[in-house]
Parts: sequence; structure tokens; C-alpha cells
Amino acid sequence: MAAGIDDIAIYIPRLYIDAADFAKARGLDPEKLQKGLGVSQMAIVDTNQDPACLAANACLQIMQKNKLSPEDIGRLYVSTESSFDESKAMNSYVIGMLEQVYGQGAFEHCGGVETKFACVSGSYALYDNTNWIRAGEAEGKHALVVVSDIAKYDMGSSGEMTQGAGAVVMLLNDEPRLLSFDPKVTATSIKDEYDFYRPFGKETPIVHGQYSNLLYMIQVRKALETYKKKAISSGLMKLEPGETILDHMDYLNMHLPYSNMGKKALAYLVRHEWRQLPRWKKIIQEIGIQEPIPKDPRGTIESVLGDEEFMAKDHEFTKAFTKTREFQEIYEAKLASSLVASKMIGNLYTASLYLGFRSCLEFEYQKGIDLNGKRFGFGSYGSGSSAMVFSGTIQPQYEEIVKNMNLEAELAPRRRLTLDEYETLHENKLSPEESILRTKREFILVDVNTTTESRGERRYIFNE
Ligand code: CAA
Repeated sequence: MAAGIDDIAIYIPRLYIDAADFAKARGLDPEKLQKGLGVSQMAIVDTNQDPACLAANACLQIMQKNKLSPEDIGRLYVSTESSFDESKAMNSYVIGMLEQVYGQGAFEHCGGVETKFACVSGSYALYDNTNWIRAGEAEGKHALVVVSDIAKYDMGSSGEMTQGAGAVVMLLNDEPRLLSFDPKVTATSIKDEYDFYRPFGKETPIVHGQYSNLLYMIQVRKALETYKKKAISSGLMKLEPGETILDHMDYLNMHLPYSNMGKKALAYLVRHEWRQLPRWKKIIQEIGIQEPIPKDPRGTIESVLGDEEFMAKDHEFTKAFTKTREFQEIYEAKLASSLVASKMIGNLYTASLYLGFRSCLEFEYQKGIDLNGKRFGFGSYGSGSSAMVFSGTIQPQYEEIVKNMNLEAELAPRRRLTLDEYETLHENKLSPEESILRTKREFILVDVNTTTESRGERRYIFNE
């Protein structure tokens, strides 16, 4: 049975901080953000928004657009790493908000949970709901999978320049107009790690930045190896001599903590895939330097990162490799369009991979490319850590969805924050009623109870 993404919608907060303003305030070269990391603007939540609000606003949008009633929805999952309760699942808050519009008890028949595994949990939620549909359990109903996050780092930390916020919702069913997932190829890797984590009660994560960058690439490559075996053994792909699995994917969407991480990860995967092929010889000749090898043959992350000489040489090699015509071609054709939205919005943790997918659809379609039948490969990563690689193909009715996509219009009107305003928001100095914007027809947070008996209860309204 087919199962996949029928439609996709986004909700991005209207406040943002500009990379140039941020760089100036922190004494950084703006080029480091814009060119080095690929960050131009970072979306920031207002005082009356939390990840549940962002998720509910995205859900309402996709339901109204598709004229769905709560009866049409069988499952509502929320995946997040910005959770604010250790027990009550975020989808229950979202149901509560949606029932303010659709009537109390309207979603009573529905099931679902909040899922957690840093940025990869949305991919697990998609996989589980796809299998719920494939198993014939959906009885004609749709599943909503919402990925919603506020990427917030300590002030003055190196992660602060890679913040962002927003939600992406995907409507899943057995006749998807957009993308049907390839069966029997989804591949995972998992390892107990401390690259990025957020202990109970802490609002911002503890991050080992360069370690997390390298771990991301290693874990995704491991999952890709498994994907490769499954794609070949299931008969989905047949590799001719001199070919790699990446030749069989028209697009690659990667997890994007910042947009250039997508390019870094692509270069890493392509290097590993091409190294065994005849084409590599030509590339080495073109680059003019041999690929460096770490001193420690065990190649642990610690030994690789500690090997300064190797790291410097490898950095130089990667830079030269990414400038080759062969890499530029694959980058422009398979990845570049997925990075556009990330540059304008920033990191969305769980949602960043799917914002990239949404971005790729819009900007490839705008080039006049017929996307029907094109295969998308997804490289999902969550710190702590786990990776997932999977794929799907674009369906004949995709145009119905993609032709109306307009990121620029969906983001507008945006309000550029001053550094003072941003820092006041970052330090949580204002209450929900002191919001900067007065939005209409959106769910907003009204208050969080502080009394002993009801501490933490959140009240939301739909702002008519
Ligand atoms: N002009 C142009 N480019 C410049 C520059 C300048 N003046 N100065 C630096 N750059 C370039 C650097 O060369 C580098 O490019 P390459 O990656 O191509 O080498 C890039 O800008 C970044 O510079 P640094 O590596 O020196 O940056 P940093 O160490 O200060 O911080 C970071 C980068 C480690 C990613 C940090 O932002 C961070 O800790 N971020 C949070 C963690 C994170 O995003 N990890 C990603 C993987 S884990 C994950 O994905 C989970 C998740 O969502 C968080």
C-alpha cells in the first residue's frame, strides 16, 4: 500500500533577528554568519508563543486549506526537543487549541504522542505513522505529524548564531499527492553520545559544537550504508559499475542546523561514496592534493578532532573538493534549493529537515523542473545520537500542492528586532501580554499558572 506526504504547511514566527545586526553586536564578522554558516535571518518567538502554539497554528492551516474536519484525522503526533512538560505530551495542548476552533471533544477519537530524540524524532514519527497507514489501521483517516521547535542557545555561545523557530506539519495518507515513501529501505543508526543535550529544567542545550558537526556526518553515513544495502536487496535500486547510490537520488535533503551544514554533510557523504569509484582519480588530479588520512588508524571522533594537522589538511581538502565542477553540479542540482528557507529562518531542530524539503519543492518548481517521479533522499540527524536515511518519490498530483507555495508571502510581514528587543526576549523578561506583535487569527499563549496546585498549566486562546 502507498503511504506518504499528501500536503505540508509551515508556521514561522513573524519576529526575526538579522545576521548583520547580530554579528555587529557580538563583534563577529558578518561574513562568518552569512557565508561561513549560511545564516541571514533567524526567526524568534514572541512572548506569547511556545512550541505548542507554533504546532497548533501549522495544524489549523493545513486542516483549513484541505477542508478537513477532525473526523478525518486519526492521529496527531508532535515531535519536538523544546518540550516544557516531563509528562503531559505536547500534542494534548495542540488538540486543546484546535478544539477551541472545532468544538470541545472534536478530536476525542484521535490518538498520538509527543516524540523525542533531538532533531531526528520527527522522522521516526513520520515512519511510524506511515506504517500505521501501510498496516491498514488508518481506516481512511489521515495522520498529522507536526515538527515544532524553538532553537535557543545561551547568549554569547557559539550556537547563538544558529537559532530559529517554527513548525512544519505533514498530512499523511494512503493516496499522497506529494510524496510516497519508498518501502523497506528506511535505515537507522544509533549511539549513546553527548554531543548536544538539554538536562531537565535547563532552557538551553549544552553543546560540543565541532564534535556534533562530525558526529552528525558519521552517523548519517552509517545509516546511508544500511540504506544502500536495503535499496539494493529490496530491488529499489540497481547499481551499475561506477555508480553510487547518490546517483539514484534526484534530490538530497539533509538536517539543517544551519544551511551550510547541509553542504558540509553532502560533501562528506559524496567523498565517501565516490572514493571507491573511477571518477575519484580524476577529482584528485583536479584538486591537486591527496586526501589526508588521520594519524590514529582507529579513527575515533576524539582522535580525529584532536589531530590538528589532519583537521587542517582535511578542511583544506574539503574546501578544494567543494569547488570542483563535479561537486558543484551535484550541489546545485540536488541540494541548493533546500537551503534557501533555512537561510531566511534559521534552525528549527526537528522541523529543519522538512523546511528544507518544502524549500526544495518550491524553488525547484520555480525553475520549471517537472518533479513528477523524482526521488528525494532524506538524511535526518538527532544529537544524542541517531540518524535516519529514507527516501520517497514525488507523485503525479504534486503540482496541485507545489504551484501555490510562496515562502516570501508566507513569511511576511516580518518585524526586524533590535538587539535590545532580542536580548529582552531571550532573557524571558516579558510576560505573554507584553507581546511585541498583536497577531490575528492565531493561537497564542495567555498565561502559565504559578500556583502550587496548578503550576505549569498553560492557557491558550485563538486570537480572533
Ligand atoms: N568569513 C567567512 N567564513 C568564515 C569566517 C569569516 N570571517 N569566519 C569563519 N568562517 C567559516 C568557517 O571557516 C566555517 O566554515 P567551514 O565549516 O566551511 O569550515 C564556518 O564559518 C563556521 O566557523 P567555525 O567552525 O569556526 O564556527 P564556530 O566553531 O564558532 O561555530 C558551530 C560553529 C560549532 C556549528 C556552532 O555554531 C554551534 O555550536 N552550533 C550549535 C551546534 C550545531 O549546530 N551542531 C550541528 C550538528 S548537531 C545537530 O545538527 C543537532 C542540532 O540541530 C543542533
